[in-house]
Amino acid sequence: MPGKRVLVTGAAGFIGSHTVDRLIADGHSVLGVDDLSTGSEANLQSVSRESRFEFKAADVAEAKEIHSIVESFQPESIIHLAALVSVPRAESEPALNYRLNIQATQEICEAARSHQVRRIVFASSAAVYGECSDLPLAESAPTIPLGQYGSAKRISEQLLAGYHASYGIETVCFRYFNVYGPRQDPASPYSGVVSIFGDRYRAGKPVVIFGDGSQSRDFVYVGDVATANTLASTLESPTSGTFNCCTGISTSLLDLIDVLNERFPGVPKPGHEAARPGDIRHSLGDPSAITAALGFTPSTPFATGLRSLLDV
Ligand code: NAD
Ligand code: UD1
Repeated sequence: MPGKRVLVTGAAGFIGSHTVDRLIADGHSVLGVDDLSTGSEANLQSVSRESRFEFKAADVAEAKEIHSIVESFQPESIIHLAALVSVPRAESEPALNYRLNIQATQEICEAARSHQVRRIVFASSAAVYGECSDLPLAESAPTIPLGQYGSAKRISEQLLAGYHASYGIETVCFRYFNVYGPRQDPASPYSGVVSIFGDRYRAGKPVVIFGDGSQSRDFVYVGDVATANTLASTLESPTSGTFNCCTGISTSLLDLIDVLNERFPGVPKPGHEAARPGDIRHSLGDPSAITAALGFTPSTPFATGLRSLLDV
């Protein structure tokens, strides 16, 4: 199969850079676009000398710029990952959330329509479900997002569905659950818990558990997410729809602590603080639909994925 031309927005970020690595390894040609607001060119080091990879620093919410990039690169697919990723920031800056998490999606759709891009793959989130007690969550579960970020992701999914219905552009929305792995920045208090805990254990420092630690998540390894993005953007057969990107396996914080204690004996015991206000207790997805559509399930065992993170 000849390589495809794939444009990746948010390419210098955590999920974006792993996706670029995978696309390049599979023989595709990639244009990575990123404004480097939270991403870093260092994440793209392994592909920087690759002739099939180009990088362009640009703001994806700038219509003119994104149109001219799409026009000149002529991608067959766009993987749209660039976003305002911080949920607390989306709450405190709703206009910025609108610009980056809704308007940018519209610009990507319009650029795709104007320049005959066949398919768009979009980074949605389990945040579209809000708090739902009927687990595991299937894609048919009600979507009642709890705030600005989740609601913007849901609106973007619907914009994409409209472009599919009106103009036949193939659109794939992935609802990522809790993604973890190397290159996730542990510096912010709102980073993923796996990257925060991994970083502190490696430094021999105790972690803080908010609540009793029995809360659980569906942790999905970033390499599996990169594989899903690569498959969805390069499959020959028509591919559209909305899919959970998850493992279907529940891991509690206490499970995570057990693995870390075994790997780093001697680190002081975790401290406990009150549960975060609004914290979801349990989150778990059903991966059957992505398996049926792509013939692939995110399945890296948690212990294996965690080892890759801790060994960096
Ligand atoms: P990240 O912050 O590492 O990546 C986002 C990238 O987008 C960064 O490199 C940033 O510089 C870039 N960016 C931001 N605004 C931009 C703009 N206006 N123009 C161009 N580039 C811009 O975060 P990530 O975890 O890799 O997230 C990637 C996508 O996956 C996001 O859409 C996020 O909402 C979604 N997502 C992530 C998770 C997770 O667990 N990490 C879960 C659900 C959904
Ligand atoms: C994710 C988002 C969060 C958003 C929420 C709802 C990420 C990294 N976080 O949170 O911003 O509000 O979805 O859509 O995407 N925890 C600790 N100690 C820590 C850090 C976290 O105990 O130092 C706990 C949290 O309270 C939570 C669990 O670990 O119970 C997981 O936290 P996190 O990784 O932030 O993911 P979500 O809660 O799913």
